[in-house]
Amino acid sequence: MMNLSVEEILKKETFTREDLICLLKCNEQDRKKLFARSAEIKSIHVGKKVYYRGLVELSNICSKNCYYCGIRLDNKKVHRYFVTEDEVVEAAQYAFENGYGSMVLQSGERTDKQFVDTIINLLNRIKDISGDKLGITLSLGEQSEETYRKWFEAGAHRYLLRIETSNRELYYKLHPQNAKHDYDERLECLRLLRKIGFNVGTGVMIGLPFQQIEHLADDLQFFYDMDIDMVGMGPYIEHEDTPLFQFKEQLMPKDERFILSLKMVAILRIMMKDINIAATTAMQTLDKQGREKALMVGANIIMPNLTPVKYREDYLLYEDKPCINEEASECKNCLEARIAMVGDKIAYNEWGDSLHFKKRQQQ
Ligand code: 5AD
Ligand code: SF4
Ligand code: FES
Repeated sequence: MMNLSVEEILKKETFTREDLICLLKCNEQDRKKLFARSAEIKSIHVGKKVYYRGLVELSNICSKNCYYCGIRLDNKKVHRYFVTEDEVVEAAQYAFENGYGSMVLQSGERTDKQFVDTIINLLNRIKDISGDKLGITLSLGEQSEETYRKWFEAGAHRYLLRIETSNRELYYKLHPQNAKHDYDERLECLRLLRKIGFNVGTGVMIGLPFQQIEHLADDLQFFYDMDIDMVGMGPYIEHEDTPLFQFKEQLMPKDERFILSLKMVAILRIMMKDINIAATTAMQTLDKQGREKALMVGANIIMPNLTPVKYREDYLLYEDKPCINEEASECKNCLEARIAMVGDKIAYNEWGDSLHFKKRQQQ
């Protein structure tokens, strides 16, 4: 078969694996066409609205040992913390009063009863102080069906669980091969979340050691096949106190990882026109204007950090994480200016669930 040009591919309704690979590999000139097309799709299907998710990184206590992550269990250098319930409620109050519309509660993974109950308490309190007006996303890893249900019933309606990579072999190069890090479990969790009624989000890291362009093409197809509602993905960034650090010489340069991440966002926007796509902190880490650039090529979600500043140094999943010392109000002003510069509008006081999810509900 003759190879299609990027221009020809961009005119198609659906992409083949070869099309995706071609788009991911495209040169600077073609990249501009890709980005122009994804920006156009974004403006037609999701418009200029950017939704906020005020992020609280609840705790860096984690029972897992992902090879890429700075707060993995075996990293003994980390000072472990748990934000107090009152501090979380204060952050929620801030989010509510400032019209953020939604929050994300994220944390290292724990499945013990105390943790499960703490989350229920927090959900109740956040719903309470906001008169049920703040939307809540959870990003708390793999849990039992029962736990997911309890959290859903307590008022969480979105859940983020990144698959990290959809390729099973690569997954096991990034995680220990044991029951705690089981690829099929993770897939099952995504299915459970959907069954229970959550808006389901997933995502991958881009530019991982051992990762090929073909894997990323398959990741995009995976999002599509799973009919996912939201995606948060960004570049892999090495952390020196993790096992994967030893492969840092094999990584592509950071600027290339960044561009590849932008391409992933752009292609996904074209493939899944009405989902929510985050402009992630990892993108901001590799490029000072990373989030704005992501918005320009198709992202529509930003997660301003509301974790109390005193804990932020301890939630370093990777190197050079930005906004470590900025108070919520500083980020608020900074972000407003940045988003205005891109020509987007912050949708204050709205949940901003993905249109994709809403349409499925109506079917
Ligand atoms: N680089 C980029 N992203 C990372 N994450 C964890 N460690 C890293 C890293 N070194 C991401 C994972 C996880 C999310 C909470 O943070 O995708 O799901
Ligand atoms: Fe724990 Fe998540 Fe880090 Fe894995 S990526 S070690 S589950 S915090
Ligand atoms: Fe935190 Fe700019 S968003 S300082």
